[in-house]
Amino acid sequence: MNYSDTVMDHFMNPRNVGEVENPDGIGQVGNVNCGDIMRMTIRVQDNRISEVKFKTFGCGAAIAVSSMVTEMIAGKTLEEAVQVNRDDVAEALGGLPAKKLHCSNLGTDALKAAVNDYWRRTGHPEKVVPLEDEHLEQDTEETNACCSSNERGCRQSPDGHSAETTGK
Ligand code: FES
Repeated sequence: MNYSDTVMDHFMNPRNVGEVENPDGIGQVGNVNCGDIMRMTIRVQDNRISEVKFKTFGCGAAIAVSSMVTEMIAGKTLEEAVQVNRDDVAEALGGLPAKKLHCSNLGTDALKAAVNDYWRRTGHPEKVVPLEDEHLEQDTEETNACCSSNERGCRQSPDGHSAETTGK
């Protein structure tokens, strides 16, 4: 499978890996077909994303997508950030192989889920936007401790984090 230099760069040197401390929003989505999981945490200041981090248990393309999404939306207003779609991310990465296009859904949907979580927490459910793949959103309350799937081995760490950045 041929990946662009940009994909390889973001896979080998992912930006913004980890978890925002005491985040204002948490989004966690899973791909029902491949079982991969992506989690994004955001800090919001003056309606802008001032900090964003990700953890991805997934393929190399998913890791590159996560990394690119965090760079694309940092500093944007919440309304601007949720306008970034999977095609924008794939294009910014210099394209993705057809078989890996679905991986870009995870990035934009994890971000949207985090922003939606912020709107729900702050009493603005009317601002919640639909995910590109609605069925992917996971309840972060239930999945914080573990990804709930042992299909490819649970990656739960001692501190309870389930989704680590890993290639496969
Ligand atoms: S194969 Fe599952 S996200 Fe890429």
